[in-house]
Amino acid sequence: MTSIDYNAQLETLFAGCRVGGQAFLPLYRRAMKATGTPVGDWKIYRRALRAFFLAQYFQRSLAVEGAFAECGVYYGFSAYMLRMLMEGAQAAPKAFHLIDSFEGLSQPGTGDRLVIDGTLQENTIPPGHFKVDLEQVYARFSGLENVYWHKGWIPEVLKELPEQVWAFVHIDVDLYEPTKTALEYFLPRMSPGGIIVNDDYGSPGFPGAGRAWHEVLDPLGLPFIALDGGQAIYIRDKS
Ligand SMILES: C[S@@+](CC[C@H](N)C(=O)[O-])C[C@H]1O[C@@H](n2cnc3c(N)ncnc32)[C@H](O)[C@@H]1O
Repeated sequence: MTSIDYNAQLETLFAGCRVGGQAFLPLYRRAMKATGTPVGDWKIYRRALRAFFLAQYFQRSLAVEGAFAECGVYYGFSAYMLRMLMEGAQAAPKAFHLIDSFEGLSQPGTGDRLVIDGTLQENTIPPGHFKVDLEQVYARFSGLENVYWHKGWIPEVLKELPEQVWAFVHIDVDLYEPTKTALEYFLPRMSPGGIIVNDDYGSPGFPGAGRAWHEVLDPLGLPFIALDGGQAIYIRDKS
């Protein structure tokens, strides 16, 4: 039986790619390894591509005033990678606010229904999927300053956040309700030039994240771009 050499493929795809002066692939691999993040073989390319785009936008946000927030931390891969990027940059450090139930996904609702064979069907992904051992996640960030943990369900947990401006927000909670309420919370608090990345805007298995994005941004006439890896990006006007 022949097998696919995924590492060779990643090296081909990301050869020469750099983020803020660092080679991307070693940074990506370091964060995957340090956080012990599992990834199915079929998803290896998409995960790396999204990570590359995420890192590029985060790098841009280092010049913007305000803190970093991530909604949806899981094992900590994306937060860890961005933190390593910040540590290696000549930039003012940002506070990292990490928000997750750490109990996995909340209950999918009607906003998460899938279109299958032309009909709307319930999303049967069970609540609790992606549950992790919080102590293990904490341990990966030990010794790093200015990391603030917010364990709880979105939207209630957002009340714990300090009232301040945000330079970069990564929303990666898969589902309609938490994506929508997180967006409604952060949008009016973004710094000029601040960036929001919605990881699941175009994820086929989680259409709710894209629906929520349109429901919040479209009525406000706020422009965004959708990337081929599935993310959507909003950048607040500088004015
Ligand atoms: C796909 S994972 C995040 C992946 C992570 N950003 C990474 O890079 O590996 C989605 C996370 O969203 C969290 N989550 C989903 N719904 C939530 C809610 N309503 N409140 C808080 N956390 C939630 C889950 O616990 C899970 O850890």
